[in-house]
Amino acid sequence: MPYKLLFVCLGNICRSPSAENIMNNLIEQAGLSDSISCDSAGTSGYHIGSSPDRRMSAAAAAKLGIKLRGRARQFEKSDFQDFDMILAMDRDNYDDILALDPTGKYHGKVRLMCDFCTRHTLKEVPDPYYGGVEGFNQVIDLLVDACEGLLHEITNQQLQA
Ligand code: 4NP
Repeated sequence: MPYKLLFVCLGNICRSPSAENIMNNLIEQAGLSDSISCDSAGTSGYHIGSSPDRRMSAAAAAKLGIKLRGRARQFEKSDFQDFDMILAMDRDNYDDILALDPTGKYHGKVRLMCDFCTRHTLKEVPDPYYGGVEGFNQVIDLLVDACEGLLHEITNQQLQA
């Protein structure tokens, strides 16, 4: 069974699909596709079924040369059982996820994405939706840093457990 990661933001059209696709890219490059799998979801249902935001796709293509694949879906309670680690992009996402786990049973699976950054000091991946191009570029930079740190953590700890 692969180690399963779920990336979560608000709409599942900007930050979390970027995280999913960037992480998949790193996993493929590391030859770990059989060991780690990725998915993404939104805490809201605003964009269910939508492709990633064009501005986000443009930033991912320009900065990394990757395409963003996937369709938006909403986070659901069964995700707590189905995934090994749930990565929230910002504090609101984190709180909204934990609100669906009132007993705290899955608290230990939920982490803030920026906790895995080693080069950036921002504690959250800012919501780029209502801003300009720079916000989308910043999301990519932060996510590359966090995904590298996350892959390092998983390969060093979880897979050896
Ligand atoms: P995301 O960005 O959470 O990174 O996918 C957003 C997408 C849509 C909205 C907000 C943030 N929205 O308000 O529709």
